[in-house]
Amino acid sequence: MRVLGIESSCDETGIALYDTERGLLAHALHTQVALHAEYGGVVPELASRDHIRRVLPLTRRVLGEAGLTLSDIDGIAYTQGPGLAGALLVGASVASGLALALDLPSVGVHHLEGHLLSPLLAEPRPEFPFIALLVSGGHTQIMRVDGVGRYELLGETLDDAAGEAFDKTAQLLGLGYPGGPAVAKLAETGDPSRFKLPRPMLNSGNLEFSFSGLKTAVLNLKIKEGDEARADIAAAFQEAAIDVLAGKSLQALRQTGMKRLVVAGGVGANRLLRQRLDAEASKRRFQVYYPPLDLCTDNGAMIAYAGAMRLKAGRATNGSFGIRPRWDLADLNAPD
Ligand code: KG4
Ligand code: ZN
Repeated sequence: MRVLGIESSCDETGIALYDTERGLLAHALHTQVALHAEYGGVVPELASRDHIRRVLPLTRRVLGEAGLTLSDIDGIAYTQGPGLAGALLVGASVASGLALALDLPSVGVHHLEGHLLSPLLAEPRPEFPFIALLVSGGHTQIMRVDGVGRYELLGETLDDAAGEAFDKTAQLLGLGYPGGPAVAKLAETGDPSRFKLPRPMLNSGNLEFSFSGLKTAVLNLKIKEGDEARADIAAAFQEAAIDVLAGKSLQALRQTGMKRLVVAGGVGANRLLRQRLDAEASKRRFQVYYPPLDLCTDNGAMIAYAGAMRLKAGRATNGSFGIRPRWDLADLNAPD
């Protein structure tokens, strides 16, 4: 089964073709980073308009790269939520329009389910069950995953998401948007041992997170030490954030007795996080899995993949293309 996937929940238009026999056939991405850069964050109306401009040309490109035409597709998946309403509507309308015109099944996909399953697009693929650390711009969650659609939330952030903390730190340090990669790059030139920032809730005994205090600590440090210390502050922040993410992941593995950890979402691209988890994995004898680097942040491939799993299980949502800008992953039903 060949599924076209459309992601348009935020500031990236992602299109992909996934074949349940042959794997990912092609994918393409247009990022709106430059469009929103001067505003320091995503402007929803500009995002929607840009998705409209990009979605069909990108679809043609992906089909061309795969050497296929629309008539070779068996189903269409799109991000139904959560995300920006106007942006979601673009993908939902195009997907539903195409499905109707081509007489194909369509399926609305939960964006976080896409992230969660994205490591299954890489080799080696993790087997179920596993613990997932989901770290994106909007979410920081630890989940137990027993299969497609079978997710149990074990803990999440009480305030800011990890990616948000990176983005806000970037802003405080005068770096651009999006902040994660910029903070990580600056941190590499800094001394992580010069300043010690708090590790919020690291020893709280549960799997909850909190990052807003860390952001305030960065602000205070910046005021006290000034611009000269920027790289060292970035390094201290990154150390603290990664310590917490790695520490809680280990705790989740210990608590559940599981031996497989999957990392997904934009912050999963962070090099220090990967180094830390890889080192712990060989020391403590568990396996850690990541999506390919280009599939950590938003993309169409993860939507095509999650959609294919749902369509294969007979869970098309044909015609009911209502978007869900706010949508709890816990409300999602298992397709089997
Ligand atoms: O998953 P994603 O693309 O979008 C959401 O669904 O939110 O994640 C974007 C987030 C942003 O906050 C960005 O700053 C962060 O991921 N990010 C990183 C890195 N690359 C992206 N954070 C830390 N280190 C990175 N290398
Ligand atoms: Zn995302």
